[in-house]
Amino acid sequence: MDLKKDDAVTRRIQALTDRLSMLKENDLYFYNQPIEEIREGAKVLVHGREMGMYASYSYLGLVGHPRINEAAKKAVDKFGTGTNGVRTLAGTLTIHTELEETIANFKHAEAAITYTSGYVTNLTVISTLIGRGDYVFSDKINHASIVDGCLMSGAEFRRFRHNDMEHLEGLLKNAPPEVSKLVIADSVFSMDGDIIDLPKVVELSKKYGAWLMIDEAHSVGVLGKKGTGIEEYFGLGDVIDLKMGTLSKTIPSVGGYIAAKKDVVSFLRHSSRAYIFSAALPPAQAAAANESFKVILDEPWRIERLNANTKQFIGGLKSLGFDTMLTETAIVPVLCGDDERAFRMTRECQHNDVFVLPVVSPAVPEGLARLRATVTAAHDPSEIERAMDVIGEAGKKLGIIK
Ligand SMILES: Cc1ncc(COP(=O)(O)O)c(C=O)c1O
Repeated sequence: MDLKKDDAVTRRIQALTDRLSMLKENDLYFYNQPIEEIREGAKVLVHGREMGMYASYSYLGLVGHPRINEAAKKAVDKFGTGTNGVRTLAGTLTIHTELEETIANFKHAEAAITYTSGYVTNLTVISTLIGRGDYVFSDKINHASIVDGCLMSGAEFRRFRHNDMEHLEGLLKNAPPEVSKLVIADSVFSMDGDIIDLPKVVELSKKYGAWLMIDEAHSVGVLGKKGTGIEEYFGLGDVIDLKMGTLSKTIPSVGGYIAAKKDVVSFLRHSSRAYIFSAALPPAQAAAANESFKVILDEPWRIERLNANTKQFIGGLKSLGFDTMLTETAIVPVLCGDDERAFRMTRECQHNDVFVLPVVSPAVPEGLARLRATVTAAHDPSEIERAMDVIGEAGKKLGIIK
């Protein structure tokens, strides 16, 4: 019997293998480039060369902050390096409860629960809250972890056009009034950098009796004068039922959380499978995250600096003629067109020591491939100027700008 398969799986694997070989042969392969060192001022060492880092989510430049590093080291001395199990058995440490209190205070919520990643948080929380017979309404360009959580829940899955409140209202209106409903959106969209129309989403959720969950992966440390996120930015107070966030972007750690009313958190603590059946956050990461929220509040100058750098970066790229879409935040898409052009832009920039990365289909629609550049509080304005010169030269060479 011939064991060599020729099925759809084999063909899928072969197609990707061929595509990767082509990219590698043309020096256009940028997946998982190893960073050898992280240096002061948003610099990294890649293949022995120092580059300006424009692909990091360390929005406030907190990676390596002495207070945060110290907190992590102390936690290792006190608790060791692992939790050896799930929270409900041997895994709950005082640093976990401390972290959850810190998050609840930071987010002006009654309580908080943590998980081991943002991805897992979305998956487990959405699928715990809703199920068959319920309805979930999700923005079309929400993060993949939200989409996966909605699919896993088994609820009726309705996607509204990006930030289109009329469409959302139409879908809410069409759902049976008696069913449970959940509206869910990113606060800052991870590919485009624009902000959800929270006041309107809140109004519609109330009007149609829907629960509201907002993913704050890219708004904590970014939006609001104090950096506490999207509610502060819109001056709305405590209006989101489930405030989801990650501990892996502005917060230099790993993990995810939900801040909410006490009873909601207690429900998740007793019902969500990723909490009950998966090990707790390692002590060093919990302690690092705990200290980071405090540093954000103690060092508001970082947010001012991030805002100034963001303004300089978006304004500069626009005046060079780039299309930066609707971004208002530190995530700055630099539209290139087809995938190949985005890869070539990346190569040009990296050859000139500006570390950017491409985002191509299917992560974004075909024809909207881009560099997804980011700027942080750790960049110096003169460095941002230099990066823009490099991106501008590359854009001219590839015919993206004139
Ligand atoms: C909007 C959004 N939500 C959730 C996640 C997942 O978070 P984590 O990386 O902590 O798993 C990400 C990270 O890429 C994200 O951008």
